[in-house]
Amino acid sequence: MKINILAIESSCDETSASIISDGKILNNIIATQSVHEKYGGVVPELASRAHQQHLIPVVHEAIATSGITKEELSAVAFTRGPGLMGSLLVGVSFAKSFAYALDVPLIDVNHMQAHILAHFIDDPKPTFPFICLTVSGGHTQLVLVKDHLDMEVIGETLDDAVGEAFDKTAKLLGLPYPGGPLIDKYAKEGNPKAFSFPVSDMPNLSYSFSGIKTAVLYFLRDQLKNNPKFIEENLADLCASIQFTLIKMLLQKLKKAADIYGVKDIAIAGGVSANSGLRNELQSLAKKHGWRTFIPKFEYCTDNAAMIAMAAHYKYLKGEFCGMDVVPEARMKI
Ligand code: KG4
Ligand code: ZN
Repeated sequence: MKINILAIESSCDETSASIISDGKILNNIIATQSVHEKYGGVVPELASRAHQQHLIPVVHEAIATSGITKEELSAVAFTRGPGLMGSLLVGVSFAKSFAYALDVPLIDVNHMQAHILAHFIDDPKPTFPFICLTVSGGHTQLVLVKDHLDMEVIGETLDDAVGEAFDKTAKLLGLPYPGGPLIDKYAKEGNPKAFSFPVSDMPNLSYSFSGIKTAVLYFLRDQLKNNPKFIEENLADLCASIQFTLIKMLLQKLKKAADIYGVKDIAIAGGVSANSGLRNELQSLAKKHGWRTFIPKFEYCTDNAAMIAMAAHYKYLKGEFCGMDVVPEARMKI
């Protein structure tokens, strides 16, 4: 009999369900929450309510389009953390009751491990050990991946995540949430050298992204005093310059990590890995240093249940199940 797993993702503001059969992803259903746009960020209470509304239709669609009946499921997997507690609770509670009703095992998945394991959905797959730069709205980590479920964080941000830096500077430019993809879009038309913002240099493999937000805030305040239309007249150049600075910081430490660990297989993962500037710069750095790079499909960059399903498949093979007393962990570590 095949190993069929239903996986659920509900850590932040996407409700998603996916079915994996013997390691092959059959579908990846995602319901995005638009309710947060007008607030300029994710509102946790609204997120958990929206998960409650979306979860059953999303799971229903995942099962209905998979060609597998719920009785053929071997396990139910869910994101245990890290994430927003109220959002995680919706997924965990649903997964528990569904697994209980079907009398199948439960599998708890670490969301950040799953972002990395998204690289095992399609070919070509990286070989161990490889380094993954995991960049999302909540995290910025350099991870040494020794095996599917054996990972070590070798560097991370000491303050804001890089996705937060994208979103917060976008907000200063008057762009709606989430601003990361908009900065990416406008940056394509702009000059990355038009304005210069400070590049932080933290010790070892640590990052810091809080400084750029303050630098952009004061820079805009000064410019707007002389020209109230400064932002609209320079939007593309501002976006290109901010993006250039953030990418420079990301890649400086990635290069350092690759040198220290002597690794040539390099991957990126998480929402910010959708950024076209980061993808391009990574490719040119790779050419220069003879790296093999692994960049996930857009669909698997931002939060999705297919990556949770992939992680669950490897945990199933190792017999790593959890009990019905499992609780979500907002700050779960890799
Ligand atoms: O992984 P993700 O979907 O959710 C978290 O776990 O945080 O990442 C969301 C983050 C947001 O900060 C969003 O602005 C950023 O990823 N993002 C981007 C792009 N697409 C998404 N940032 C820059 N350029 C993009 N194209
Ligand atoms: Zn994520």
